[in-house]
Amino acid sequence: MASPATGVVVIVGSGLIGRSWAMLFASGGFRVRLCDVEQQQVTDALENIRKEMAVLELRGSLRGRLSAKEQGSLLSGCVDVRGAVEGAVHIQECVPEDLELKRKVFAQLDQIINDQVVLSSSSSCLLPSQLFAGLVHVAQCIVAHPVNPPYFVPLVELVPHPDTAPETVDRTHALMQKIGQSPVRVLKEIDGFALNRLQYAIISEAWRLVEGSCFQFHSPSGGHILILIPKHGREILRKVGQKKEGVVSPSDLDLIMSDGLGMRYAFIGPLETMHLNAEGMVSYCDRYGEGVKRVLKTFGPVPEFSGATVEKVNQAMCLKVPADPEHLAARRQWRDECLQRLAQLKRQMQPQ
Ligand code: NAI
Repeated sequence: MASPATGVVVIVGSGLIGRSWAMLFASGGFRVRLCDVEQQQVTDALENIRKEMAVLELRGSLRGRLSAKEQGSLLSGCVDVRGAVEGAVHIQECVPEDLELKRKVFAQLDQIINDQVVLSSSSSCLLPSQLFAGLVHVAQCIVAHPVNPPYFVPLVELVPHPDTAPETVDRTHALMQKIGQSPVRVLKEIDGFALNRLQYAIISEAWRLVEGSCFQFHSPSGGHILILIPKHGREILRKVGQKKEGVVSPSDLDLIMSDGLGMRYAFIGPLETMHLNAEGMVSYCDRYGEGVKRVLKTFGPVPEFSGATVEKVNQAMCLKVPADPEHLAARRQWRDECLQRLAQLKRQMQPQ
């Protein structure tokens, strides 16, 4: 074996995310114990992971220094988490996003773990203060939220409970780096954490642009003024006799991201974009700050995500990808292959 295993990690829940974590920890040389409630589920998960590792190795996309066979040999499965936590350095919970279920799992783990192991949840949006409330080992608890598919999208949001020990955050940060992920520290818990807040801001304005929930008046000078739809926007709309229609089509909206903003966001974030788009951040704020504020003031209210706009967007999406299991699975596979290539490119393109 190229390098010895560096410790034991327990994964609780062997679904989509549990399997991904198992692969990531094995790629870092950790011995992984994968637990679930059903033996068959565990057996299937281990078989699926080993097959996936072999395919990735053939494609040259297997992560880590060990071969697929070596990584596969680091995995074992179990249905009794009590025996599995013995000697573990890290436990990653990956059961479904259900607060009561997760609290039950953490209450059980709380009774059997020692004072050393980190107890981490993969939760996408449950707050640490709800997940870990009342646990004896709360100082060792943290949310480590991955992004799907975690094998190719390395970001992990680390979100502490108010009583999480700083050492727990530091250890989890170091562990994530060790397995090649990109951890970020969310310094205090907030609904949606950071990634989904950004994502929802984009979804929200995307929806308004497609829906036309801001609309144009002709100004006396002949130009157009964008006006924020007020509470009684519908009445105003009727009075001026304008049809509520979108600013861009749903497919063009997606193109703005995939062939526009998304191209650079794969390498630099929005703040660095500002910095580079002028002579530094101060210059950007001087030059563009007022314009950004003016446009932001035209943003409409939170969309309803219902009614005619859902039909309109769904129709456009189904033209591109019919919403049946086969087409969706094929498109996801294509997406993952794109992300795999992008991950390779990002590794080659180290910052100067
Ligand atoms: P999933 O439904 O694919 O897998 C959940 C697994 O947990 C199943 O295998 C189930 O049998 C097992 N399970 C249920 N109760 C259990 C128990 N008491 N003990 C052990 N195993 C148990 O769910 P998925 O998608 O893997 O999600 C897991 C977590 O990861 C959720 O909190 C989710 O919000 C989060 N997450 C999901 C993402 C996604 O895109 N699917 C992305 C990021 C985070």
